[in-house]
Parts: sequence; C-alpha cells; structure tokens
Amino acid sequence: MLAKKPLWDTFGAEIEGVDLSGELPPDTVRFILATLHEHQVLRFRNQSLSPEQFDRYGRIYGEPTPHVLDHFRLPGLPAVMKLTNASDRPDAIINGAAYWHTDQSYDAEPSSATTLHAIKVPKAGGGTRLANMFAAYDDLPESMKRKVDGLTVLHSYGNRDQGLDGEPEASPPREEQWSKLVPVKHPLARPHPITGRKALYAVAGTSRGIEGWPEDEAVDFLRELKAHALQPQYVRTLFYEVGDVAVWDTSSTMHAAEPLEEAAGEEDTRLMIRVSVRGKPPLLQ
Ligand SMILES: [Fe+2]
Repeated sequence: MLAKKPLWDTFGAEIEGVDLSGELPPDTVRFILATLHEHQVLRFRNQSLSPEQFDRYGRIYGEPTPHVLDHFRLPGLPAVMKLTNASDRPDAIINGAAYWHTDQSYDAEPSSATTLHAIKVPKAGGGTRLANMFAAYDDLPESMKRKVDGLTVLHSYGNRDQGLDGEPEASPPREEQWSKLVPVKHPLARPHPITGRKALYAVAGTSRGIEGWPEDEAVDFLRELKAHALQPQYVRTLFYEVGDVAVWDTSSTMHAAEPLEEAAGEEDTRLMIRVSVRGKPPLLQ
C-alpha cells in the first residue's frame, strides 16, 4: 500500500509501498509528486533499478538535463550520471559537490528536481546535507522579506565561497565547456514553479551578485542569507543505505555532499547514479 511517513522532524518524507523499477501508474506518480512538492525531500527504501530503469523513473519529475560536465555521464544514457569516490577519480571530482549549492542554478532554466540511487554506500559518511529554503524564507523578519522580494541575483557556474566556510571548489569544467557557461539571473525570493510558494533561492554556490548593487555588498548580503539558511533548524542529513532512492525539490532546497576520501576498497566506496531534471513533471503539464 502506497503511504508516506515523515523523514525528519522538520521536512522530508519517506514513501513506502512502491517499486520504482516498474511502470508507475499515474495515481502513484501524482502521489509522489504531491508529496515531493509538499515535503521537499523524499526517500524510497529497498529499490533496485538498472541505469535504464532509473532513467525512465527520473522522467516522472521533468525533462532530464545532461550535466554540463559531460565526463560524468553514462555511455548511452546521457541523463544518468555516475557519482563515485572510486580511486580512478581525482579529488576535485570526488568532492566536487561537497559545498552548498542548488543544482544547475547557473542555467536560465535550472534543475527542478534531482534524484539519486545508492548502489554502494561507504561504512561511514557519504550522506547529503539538505537545507529547507521555504522555512529559511518564511522565518525572515517582514522587513527583510520586503527587501529580499524585489531582488534579482546574478548566477554563474562554480562556487562563490571556494576557500571560505571550509568549502572546496566546484568540479572544474573542461576547457571547451566554459563557453556554455554564461551568467544568468534568478529572483532571490523565487516562487516555486508548481506551488508558487516562495523560497530563498540559491544563496550559496553560483550566486555572485545582485542587480543594481555593488559586488562586495551583494556578496556580503548573499553570504548573510546563506548563514541564515544553514542554521541547524533548517538543515538535515540524508544518510543512505544500499537500495535507497532519494529525490529533492531543487527549487526549495540547497544541498551539499558530505566530503569523502578516495575509496581504499569496497567497504568505503560510494557509488550513486543520478538524474537531474528541469521543467514541470509531464503529468502536471
Ligand atoms: Fe548537487
């Protein structure tokens, strides 16, 4: 029986009673989407999906977006990325998502959801920290909301706070990929594309300026909002078990991978497959 229960005390939900590897009936998809848009982060336990099945399942959330870093993609399935700390990868790539960010906020049409499937889980660490950006916006004082509401933020690829707050640089793009990375604009208080509820949007990572503001003032203000959003009451960590499928609503969350060492052997290997999508779910169009 399809059911949901709380994942954490504040946000997130776990969905039970569904096998994501098969064809999903429209009512099931509607339930998953409604739960995602209400609770922002979902976990499904005990799943076993091939990359092809995962690619098909991922499309319930929107149109898959091949990552700009094309060296992460799986052959034949351009939308499915493989994430691992296996020893064949340099550290900048292993920990290329170990900083606070919002997927594809450097795109004019950013990611709307990101889903991961845990294939191998290290015996310690390897989780994903998530921040609730609806709550971070809701809790701002009214005067601050009025200030934030009218502002437009300039975003470009990479990590603004590289070297600050203990954060590494974003996975470096290849030389020929830089030309695709032009700056874009998003509202600071961004209405959710499905529900219209406002979230504080992408105040870490790619946000580097505010329209009409001097750059240093803008960065100070964005960093102040980031510090606000990363207070303990807004942040929870998703710890994975083999077989977990997780998905987060990227319009109302920020996230950061827990940093990992390069795997010395099987027991500390993390292997995930990932699909990120943009636009509205096909069922809600
Ligand atoms: Fe990410």
